[in-house]
Amino acid sequence: MAIEPGFLDELRARTPLASVIGRRVKLARSGRNWKGCCPFHGEKTPSFYVYDDHFHCFGCGVHGDVISFVMQMEGKSFPEAVEELAGSAGMEVPKDTRRTREEVAHSQSLEDVLEHTQQIWSQALYSPAGKAGLEYLTRRGLTRQTIEEFGLGWAADGRGALTEALAPKGITPQMMAEAGLMRIDEEGRPKGELFWGRVTFPIRDRKGRLVSFGGRILGDGQPKYLNGPETSLFSKRRLLFGLDKARAAVRAPRPKGVSPTDLIVVEGYMDVIALHQAGFRGAVAALGTALTPEQLEVLWQVDRAPILCFDGDTAGRRAAARAAEVALPLVKADHSLRLCLLPEGEDPDSLVRSKGAQVVGEMFATASPLSEMLFDLLTVGVSNPGPEERAALRHKLVEVAGLIPDKALASEYRSTLLDRFFETFRRKKSGAKGGALAPARSVVRDSGPVALNAMEERQRILLALLLRYPEVVPEVEDALCRLALPPAFAEVRDLLLDLSAEGMLPETGDALLSSLEGQDEEEVVQAVLTGGGLPLALEEKDTSLAVAIRTQWWHFYGLLNFSQFQQEVEQEVARFTVEGGDLAEWRRLQPRLEALARLKRGEMEEFEA
Ligand code: UTP
Ligand code: MN
Repeated sequence: MAIEPGFLDELRARTPLASVIGRRVKLARSGRNWKGCCPFHGEKTPSFYVYDDHFHCFGCGVHGDVISFVMQMEGKSFPEAVEELAGSAGMEVPKDTRRTREEVAHSQSLEDVLEHTQQIWSQALYSPAGKAGLEYLTRRGLTRQTIEEFGLGWAADGRGALTEALAPKGITPQMMAEAGLMRIDEEGRPKGELFWGRVTFPIRDRKGRLVSFGGRILGDGQPKYLNGPETSLFSKRRLLFGLDKARAAVRAPRPKGVSPTDLIVVEGYMDVIALHQAGFRGAVAALGTALTPEQLEVLWQVDRAPILCFDGDTAGRRAAARAAEVALPLVKADHSLRLCLLPEGEDPDSLVRSKGAQVVGEMFATASPLSEMLFDLLTVGVSNPGPEERAALRHKLVEVAGLIPDKALASEYRSTLLDRFFETFRRKKSGAKGGALAPARSVVRDSGPVALNAMEERQRILLALLLRYPEVVPEVEDALCRLALPPAFAEVRDLLLDLSAEGMLPETGDALLSSLEGQDEEEVVQAVLTGGGLPLALEEKDTSLAVAIRTQWWHFYGLLNFSQFQQEVEQEVARFTVEGGDLAEWRRLQPRLEALARLKRGEMEEFEA
């Protein structure tokens, strides 16, 4: 029995080996790879190495990929291991993926069809019939060596030429169709060759297996490029043109002092080839589509922060923003991106030719980390924003950072984005904003205190605690950001976060209040503080006041959304247990644990109406 190789490839791409092994074995970085003590034989000094697609123990010789790791570690069969990994990657093992021996043979025969075609086309390029193609490529600056290295070819003019050339090898039009070389009608019957009168680009997967072709017309006709259709060998979502070569270049051993080869993602075939020729051997391209999550995972197996290049025009910026959005939910500390915006209207191919390799290399060297570029992408065209625009923008920044699943990293991104926000758009200190915010005050109305429901009362207390004890704000910032609050309360929360981000948060509640005197926010802050007494059950028996305040804060936070709070605390504890941390960090967790314990003991009802 066999599970479809396409599915297994995707499963491997989506379950990075180091993270699966890292859950069971303590790993440390070793250059581009990881090492740790081998889980399969007792040892004290690490000789167990984890590479991007396999592991190897130099002590006991155990060796394999992510699936065989789970099999050996947990004594599972192949299908069981696949099932488990698929489950945690959120993938479903296709029901009927058993492939017969004939099917396996068939896919090998499709590879043969493509290889025969490659031979015919690459030879044709150097024959009299291919003269125009070869001249075209030469005119575009490609050397004979580059053309051969990439296996470029020529698909003869006039339909039927390939069919005729393949027939003596026993290859039928039906097989050609299945290999992606033919157009087909609704019934799947071949109806004419796809590539003719074009320069051909063999498309290889990351292991160098031929899976399809692209073809470029000479000159200006339409469509400029044709790519083979999806086939059982070729999936556009996963494939990156040039990855076989780039992967080898990025991972090649290099002499001391030589900087590593960057993995560079560009837009077109010609960009990849021109960059290679200019010495940038880590260049790859998606095939005319936006980067997919699958492609990102594949890229991260080769480089922890690939450089994505975009044209500096509006469309290019939009494409960059879209790529960032696809990437954020997948970003981790060692899975990041760098972004490089090129001068408007240029692509890497045209730049290498007009400016030379050195200038292009300098552009790559100044590629911005994702966290920095994000701000620029999200604030294009914003200048001098008013209060509403400021609030909307800031919420957007916080929301975008929140797309990153790793809490610690999300919080870093949030601070980076907010720092830039405050740097770029300084708050105007003035009491003359007029009534702009008044209609938004649904909770605290001008007509004096109104009855708040239980939920609002908890929210109010949560904020009142912070107004009284501003020193707690930095510790609870992340949680505070995530709270859904009615507009007036959100205003107070934003004020606290602003002040904290600007480093202007007074140390005491009294100082905070007097700093707000005469400011717009004074009114709503007073309303929050005086909406009812502060029910601070601050027992100073065995805990200090500081701990009591924090416990109280988390208690109310937990009351607002118990299940989320519980999950957050448990994640923190798990993270602490796995990654370790210092004593101060553990102490900071205590109030949350205590609050959770109280909530679990049934103190949920305490403030129920
Ligand atoms: P570009 O038009 O930017 O390609 O399209 P390029 O490499 O700069 O083209 P030339 O040869 O220098 O003029 C980028 C990629 O989009 C896909 C191809 O994969 C191309 O490399 N594409 C483009 C298509 O699939 N079809 C098209 O008609 C055009
Ligand atoms: Mn181009």
